[in-house]
Amino acid sequence: MWGPSLVLAMMAAWPLPVQSSSLASFALEKVLDDATPIFGSYVNETGSNAEWMKNYADCTPLVHMNIPGTHDSTSWNYTQATQDALRGITDLSQVTVPVPQTFRCQALPLIDALNMGIRAFDLRYAFDPTNSTLVFYHSQALFSETATLDDVLFGFYQWLDDHPSETLFLSLQYEGSTGKYASNNAAVQLKLYEALTSRVSRQYFVQRKSEFGTLGQARGKITLLRRFDLDQLSDFYTNSLPGLHFSPSLWTDNSPNIILTYNEKNNLTAYIEDYYQPITPEGSSATENIQWKYNATTSHILKATAEHPDSLYWTWASSENTDNVPPEWPQIMALGNGSSTPEGGVNQRLVPFLKKQIGKRVGIVMFDYFEGPSDLIDTFLSL
Ligand SMILES: *[C@@H]1O[C@H](CO)[C@@H](O)[C@H](O)[C@H]1NC(C)=O
Ligand SMILES: *[C@@H]1O[C@H](CO)[C@@H](O)[C@H](O)[C@H]1NC(C)=O
Ligand SMILES: *[C@@H]1O[C@H](CO)[C@@H](O)[C@H](O)[C@H]1NC(C)=O
Ligand SMILES: *[C@@H]1O[C@H](CO)[C@@H](O)[C@H](O)[C@H]1NC(C)=O
Ligand SMILES: *[C@@H]1O[C@H](CO)[C@@H](O)[C@H](O)[C@H]1NC(C)=O
Ligand SMILES: *[C@@H]1O[C@H](CO)[C@@H](O)[C@H](O)[C@H]1NC(C)=O
Repeated sequence: MWGPSLVLAMMAAWPLPVQSSSLASFALEKVLDDATPIFGSYVNETGSNAEWMKNYADCTPLVHMNIPGTHDSTSWNYTQATQDALRGITDLSQVTVPVPQTFRCQALPLIDALNMGIRAFDLRYAFDPTNSTLVFYHSQALFSETATLDDVLFGFYQWLDDHPSETLFLSLQYEGSTGKYASNNAAVQLKLYEALTSRVSRQYFVQRKSEFGTLGQARGKITLLRRFDLDQLSDFYTNSLPGLHFSPSLWTDNSPNIILTYNEKNNLTAYIEDYYQPITPEGSSATENIQWKYNATTSHILKATAEHPDSLYWTWASSENTDNVPPEWPQIMALGNGSSTPEGGVNQRLVPFLKKQIGKRVGIVMFDYFEGPSDLIDTFLSL
């Protein structure tokens, strides 16, 4: 005979009868479905990489943690088919179109990244071509016409409900050059403000301002990294946002060493490497360009292990060299180009380097094509 608890457990595993679902759960299902082109199809996974923060004490300061992230996190499905499908509604119809590899920096959707251990995400928003919703772009490349920032935030909220031990960092940045007349105007800024201060957002975003707290204060929630200014709105709007302000005006373009004060009052500073297009001698090979980016990445990570233990270190391992002939797409820089790059790309080269940093603080590190090689994230999480 099966005991009552086993029967109950089996019933729980069966699909619920339709009449027992609430309208709220149907509504959530719809939102997650709408988010799919960016978020991916929701998969409820548990397991060590999906819940790795269980191993850290509540009192751990967030700036002491090693957080793997992804650069241009929403670009995973930007293939030729996607570019062709969306070309008609963007300015791509009027200009010479860079190939999709120029814009694509990931191969896996956000839900896979979450379940595989990624905790920091780089989200680039702008108005959709009708100026009514915030959607995701990389320059002119529109990633989905339908999945909005609001939809995707619900994906993160659901995932946090399912993984309450974890905490996330969302970097939001206004993406320019998305269309001929697009601008970071008051309407865009108000839309963003509303998305980040809605009732549901106030529940899921850590409400602390201008400083990082502890893991315990942030579990089940999101720390907002504001790579945007609300400079077309009154100060009231900026002052009522939570999170950390990394003003684009202070974020030096293409710099291997940005020192950015995000809290003037308490002199709190972040150390950032975002040398995304290494300046290398003309005619440099892919191997050489990868070497320069590897240099910038590892020298910044080494500083993170040795200096300013209570400050944020934020290293971007992502890069491209698309002006080169032949061009190095983000994928070539991250993963190499077959036999022409015998040591692989930045990612392969980082694995043995990271193995030497066991026990040390490396901070937040943002990757392109984070799933390659397969031991990159496992190595990172074992530090
Ligand atoms: C990925 O892009 C292809 C081509 O545009 C599209 O058919 C497919 O639905 C997209 N995948 C998702 C999950 O949206
Ligand atoms: C995910 O799984 C957990 C337990 O494994 C369960 O409590 C939760 O309701 C599930 N979430 C969804 C959306 O099915
Ligand atoms: C969207 O806004 C831009 C900038 O204000 C404007 O030039 C453009 O005409 C608008 N597009 C639509 C479809 O309203
Ligand atoms: C602020 O912090 C920086 C870096 O830690 C330090 O060099 C500087 O002297 C500090 N400034 C003040 C006013 O304390
Ligand atoms: C990278 O760093 C090494 C060691 O500091 C240096 O010798 C080399 O010139 C740098 N650049 C390249 C392309 O190797
Ligand atoms: C990558 O490899 C392909 C095929 O071997 C080659 O045509 C291309 O020029 C290489 N790209 C770079 C940046 O080295």
